[in-house]
Amino acid sequence: MSLVKIFQEHPERRYIMFGGKGGLGKTTFSAATAYYLAQQGHRVLVFSVDPQASLSDIFQQDIFGKGAVQIMPNLFAQEIDADQRIKAYQEEIRQKIFDMYGLEKIPDEIENYIQAAAAEPAMEESAIFDQVVDIVVAAEFDYYIYDLVPLGHALYYLSMASVYDEWIEKITKLREEMREYEQMAARIKRDEEVQEDLILQELQDIKYRIQTSSSILTDKERTAFFFVCVPEEMILIDTQKAAELFAKFDVPLSGYIVNRVLPDALMQQPNIPEYLRNRYKMQQMYNTKINDLFGQDVLAWVPEFERDITGLPMIEKMAEVMFGNGTN
Ligand SMILES: Nc1ncnc2c1ncn2[C@@H]1O[C@H](COP(=O)(O)OP(=O)(O)OP(=O)(O)O)[C@@H](O)[C@H]1O
Ligand SMILES: [Mg+2]
Repeated sequence: MSLVKIFQEHPERRYIMFGGKGGLGKTTFSAATAYYLAQQGHRVLVFSVDPQASLSDIFQQDIFGKGAVQIMPNLFAQEIDADQRIKAYQEEIRQKIFDMYGLEKIPDEIENYIQAAAAEPAMEESAIFDQVVDIVVAAEFDYYIYDLVPLGHALYYLSMASVYDEWIEKITKLREEMREYEQMAARIKRDEEVQEDLILQELQDIKYRIQTSSSILTDKERTAFFFVCVPEEMILIDTQKAAELFAKFDVPLSGYIVNRVLPDALMQQPNIPEYLRNRYKMQQMYNTKINDLFGQDVLAWVPEFERDITGLPMIEKMAEVMFGNGTN
């Protein structure tokens, strides 16, 4: 099996994720896959939920917090700015209070609450998550490529069922609290019918968003998850463990990509330094192990490039290796 075959045989898998430990190549493969799919004529969004996102680095363009930025025809990239989102929430709440009760100024108590809620650690995750829901529900692209955070954290996003539960709980709680303040404000101005209508409408909207996005994200048919690993002992152990965990969460695993493989051709040259020869031998041992462990599920062996993968020409090279006949 190869990467290109997976995409050809499963055109219904529109939500693409690369998982793995830190620094193994998730962002690189996300960008290269986005590039390949865009070249094939699909409209693609690659987006990052990581506050330390590096899509700006790889595309050599500042895209942070700017929405979906077009990189080339069919290819869009987005880095989510959680702070911006939180500020927007706060403004929304203030605006609602103004609109509902026609107050001139937000009462101090309510303003304090709005500030405190924004400082909650869960708020950032909630804001990021909310934005992901927005992106997916908008359905403006053929493919969505999630540039994931390192494994441990990615699990959080992937255990969607529990995330949604937590999220709903959080929102309900915030909403209850908000209601208290709203009631307080209502005592100042009576306008309860309007208030109930608006809240109901909003709850229905949230319910719709949750249902739509959760049905997409937990959908085995439409999600493809790839594990990135490198031929090293500890990484292999971790990858196996993670694969077991993911299986528990029912994440549909599409296969493995092995990165930073020393090219065979290198070893055919004369006068190879001892150091390199040893590394090559070590890798060969782990490559055998990878074949034993994952067999048919290994979709690509990606060589170590001569430099970092940044800028479109390098991304193109990477895409050729991944999707051309680049297996060795
Ligand atoms: N095959 C390769 N050859 C050379 N450099 C590579 C290769 N794959 C990745 N890199 C480089 O390694 C670094 C880490 O890669 P990348 O950012 O894709 O990893 P990541 O898994 O997204 O990391 P993080 O977990 O921090 O998000 C980058 O500088 C990238 O350009
Ligand atoms: Mg990354």
